[in-house]
Amino acid sequence: MSADLPIAEKCRLVFATAEAKLRHLVTAHPDYLPQYTHKGKWKHDGAPWTNWCQGFLPGQLWLLYLYTEDDFWRGKAERYCELIEERKDDRETHDLGFLFWHSWKRWHDLNGAARQRDVVIRAGQTMGLRFKEKGAYLSSFVASESAFIDIMMNIGIIFYAARETNDEALYDIALQNCLTSRRYLVRGDGSAAHEGIFDLETGAFLRESTHQGWRHDTSWARGLSWAIYGFSTAYSFTRDPRFLQTARHCADYYILNSPAHGVCPNDWLEPNPARPYEASAAAITSSALQDLAKLVGDPLRARYYRDYALRIMDSLSEPEFLASGDSEWEGILKQAAYHERLGLGVDESTMFGDYFFLESAAKLLNLI
Ligand code: GLY
Repeated sequence: MSADLPIAEKCRLVFATAEAKLRHLVTAHPDYLPQYTHKGKWKHDGAPWTNWCQGFLPGQLWLLYLYTEDDFWRGKAERYCELIEERKDDRETHDLGFLFWHSWKRWHDLNGAARQRDVVIRAGQTMGLRFKEKGAYLSSFVASESAFIDIMMNIGIIFYAARETNDEALYDIALQNCLTSRRYLVRGDGSAAHEGIFDLETGAFLRESTHQGWRHDTSWARGLSWAIYGFSTAYSFTRDPRFLQTARHCADYYILNSPAHGVCPNDWLEPNPARPYEASAAAITSSALQDLAKLVGDPLRARYYRDYALRIMDSLSEPEFLASGDSEWEGILKQAAYHERLGLGVDESTMFGDYFFLESAAKLLNLI
């Protein structure tokens, strides 16, 4: 149906789909902040695993406001931001960047007000409290000895808080976590381990591990997508060329190992996976590659990354992934996975998959 449309038209189709699906969600289930669908429905009693997705609904509402300029969406975005404000002091999660960057930071970008800025700063400072001097990493929510590649996506909010408050110690915490993740979680071929386990007494790195990939030594696709995005963000704050090099290395692994249409599986090394795609990782990568293209300097390389981002969006805008023609399906992007190993939200829509799909479309339409 949409195969021959130019990419801008496809992005408008993504936004039109988002408008219909999100109007239904905020009307049918007011103030509800879901994480993944079950059989295409947001409201269910499936386990959360961890509560890390609550910033993505207000994030989508802000993007809809930017696209439509309709105050209905601005009102909803503000309301859903308010619902999560208390999480800025949450010490149980390593996901405060996910919670506050796309929600409260976007709000601050639009209104420039101190209140929104202060909430974002507070969330960044709370994240910094996770730092382990021995080992030089931010610990994940599962254990003190655990560092996740996902945390690279939560590093921007720490750099931001450090910059806004001239806090050199906080800046150093973010920097150290990036260097540790680069050294122990990104491999020589550009693939990424999901988790690193450290010795709490000595700080020594002990081993790779995974919660969501095929095996401890393989590459969980969403973790790699977070690495591409997170190291690009780290470079944009620090201009440290090591982070640009790592972002490129991870991006090249993604591109070399994925099918020609650009939509990756849950883990590239899983033999004969039951489901061929993890569409959320592709959406995240499409958005990340647009940032990387702007940072990389070399025009040919920039074009290579941007063309690949377009290719992913071209594929995800087809009816196989975009739920535009399925009025019963409440999410936007199909064939994503929330937590494949636990069997939660597999072959479903996820709040982060929908958010980054919309974010990538918004970048292609020059809205952000
Ligand atoms: N907790 C981050 C993720 O599942 O990707």
